[in-house]
Amino acid sequence: MDYTLKAAAAGESRESLGSAWRALKPLLGDERAHIAVAVACVIVSTAANLLGPVMTARIIDTAIKHGDYGLLLRDAGILAAVYLVGLGAMYLQTLRMGTVGRNVLFKLRGRLFDKLSSLPIAFFAQNRAGDLISRVNSDTDKINQFFSQALMQMFGSLFRVTGAGILLLVLNWRMGLIALLPAVAMLILTRILSPWVKHANRKSLESLGALSGDVSESLANFQVIVAFNRVDYFREKFDAANRRNYRASVTSGVASGLFAPLYTLAGSAGSILVLGLGVWLILHGQLSVGLLVGYLLYVSSFYDPLRQLATVWSSLQTMMAAMDRVSEVLKLETNLVEIPPAAGKAARQPGVLLAFEDVGFAYGGGKPVLDKVDLTLERGRTYALVGPTGGGKTTTAMLMARLYDPTEGTVYLEGRDIRTFTAAERAARIGFILQDPFLLAGTIRDNIVYGHPDLSDISTDALTERMNARGLSGFLARFGESGLDTPVKGSGDGLSLGQKQLVAFLRAVMREPEILILDEATANIDTVTEQMLEGVLARLPETTTKVIIAHRLNTIQNADEIFFVGGGAVTAAGSMARAMDMLLGHERTS
Ligand SMILES: Nc1ncnc2c1ncn2[C@@H]1O[C@H](COP(=O)(O)OP(=O)(O)OP(=O)(O)O)[C@@H](O)[C@H]1O
Ligand SMILES: [Mg+2]
Repeated sequence: MDYTLKAAAAGESRESLGSAWRALKPLLGDERAHIAVAVACVIVSTAANLLGPVMTARIIDTAIKHGDYGLLLRDAGILAAVYLVGLGAMYLQTLRMGTVGRNVLFKLRGRLFDKLSSLPIAFFAQNRAGDLISRVNSDTDKINQFFSQALMQMFGSLFRVTGAGILLLVLNWRMGLIALLPAVAMLILTRILSPWVKHANRKSLESLGALSGDVSESLANFQVIVAFNRVDYFREKFDAANRRNYRASVTSGVASGLFAPLYTLAGSAGSILVLGLGVWLILHGQLSVGLLVGYLLYVSSFYDPLRQLATVWSSLQTMMAAMDRVSEVLKLETNLVEIPPAAGKAARQPGVLLAFEDVGFAYGGGKPVLDKVDLTLERGRTYALVGPTGGGKTTTAMLMARLYDPTEGTVYLEGRDIRTFTAAERAARIGFILQDPFLLAGTIRDNIVYGHPDLSDISTDALTERMNARGLSGFLARFGESGLDTPVKGSGDGLSLGQKQLVAFLRAVMREPEILILDEATANIDTVTEQMLEGVLARLPETTTKVIIAHRLNTIQNADEIFFVGGGAVTAAGSMARAMDMLLGHERTS
């Protein structure tokens, strides 16, 4: 199955408004009350804004003309109150939509993380961590920003434009038509310019994506870059990407920046036209001064939100592109689902602990790593996997733990198709110490009890006691004085590779699995610690089956059976000497 995410780093949305809405709808269900209040507030504040000009016209026409200061004061007071109500409603709306935005952000991040943690290893092998992080953090935040800032602005602007447009036409249709003339010209111009602006924006976002890709690649590999003295090369590469992004953003800035002055110009043109026609109508006795002032105010009530809509539109586009990237992850389904027992295949040898039957495997359409492999592991025995680098040892081990499904054939655990076990059942039975162990941020203790159903609430003292009982506490000295409380930074930074392997070892052994797989688990550990590890392995319950992958032959000499993994096959070597022959033979033929 292909898990490669396709939506560009920050490109334009490929999906329609409708599909963005469908993705968001379930998240907005609980927010209905907030949204209803916010919409009501928008209507109140828009109405207040639209009421202003009519009242101003009235004040001018009645109060001033008749010289009635009492009336003037009263009307001015009412006008101030109307504006205040409008402001209050606006503030309440901002608060409510801020809450909606935060709630959506919280839920979306939660869902994304749940989804990510349910996906198989293949997904993480095919996608860059940096890209996933930016989907969880920054794309969701763009959606939040749209809800908390842009959405109601969009409604409000639409209400105001429509309201002001209708009032302009109703109050005096000739004046209205004149006032709206520049807007019609703008709409036509916008349609003509839109494709160019969109193109410029997409180019700018794409070059930004490429730039951040370069930065994260350089930072992730900085040790290598320095060690090979390639800093200049990366600087040049970065400079080129930086310059491309600069040029693209200049064009997109010019393109997007064009609309604000154009809409302002249209507004001014509308005002001038209204003023010209208005004065002419006043001179001919067909319009009052107050109504002209009111008209001029409505012209700006019409053009200001129109300009705002142009800005909000780009925020909507950004939100849709972000939603695209988020829903792409949410739509993924793991192919490592548990299947019902009846759907599982029946084993040829039901009695064995773990068996491969005709197993073939290839990574994502590549060339086969394993081909028609048969293999059985029995309870309580120790197996070694040897073979050339890249021969398929880690792959074989990952198939045993169902981190991948075979492309052909079936893996059986306790005589049952391994796909019929739940992830928890598998984890309880199989302990896997990866070649490149993965640690979580927290402490060593957190990492040891991670995912262990019985140990999650255990106190540090009780854990130490349990480790003592298994002869494991001696290892804690390898972490310095803090022992179990030694902090672990994200993905295990701050620990040596050997220390990470020790933590992974302790994590696996404390679970007392039935099958313990060690992939080069002692490759980076000093000889004394390694001997301690061997002591621990020797004291594991007799029924524990061990699968040991190691290049160093001394670590595997106690194995009951040695498998040679290479050339697509897994072959029982019989003896250490035979395994050596096979390795050397492989050297000669390859
Ligand atoms: N995620 C992956 N995507 C594509 N190909 C992969 C992936 N992981 C491993 N391979 C390929 O599969 C083959 C077997 O790899 P594997 O890691 O199983 O070898 P190995 O025997 O464990 O090697 P080593 O001794 O170096 O650890 C290699 O040719 C490797 O290039
Ligand atoms: Mg390996």
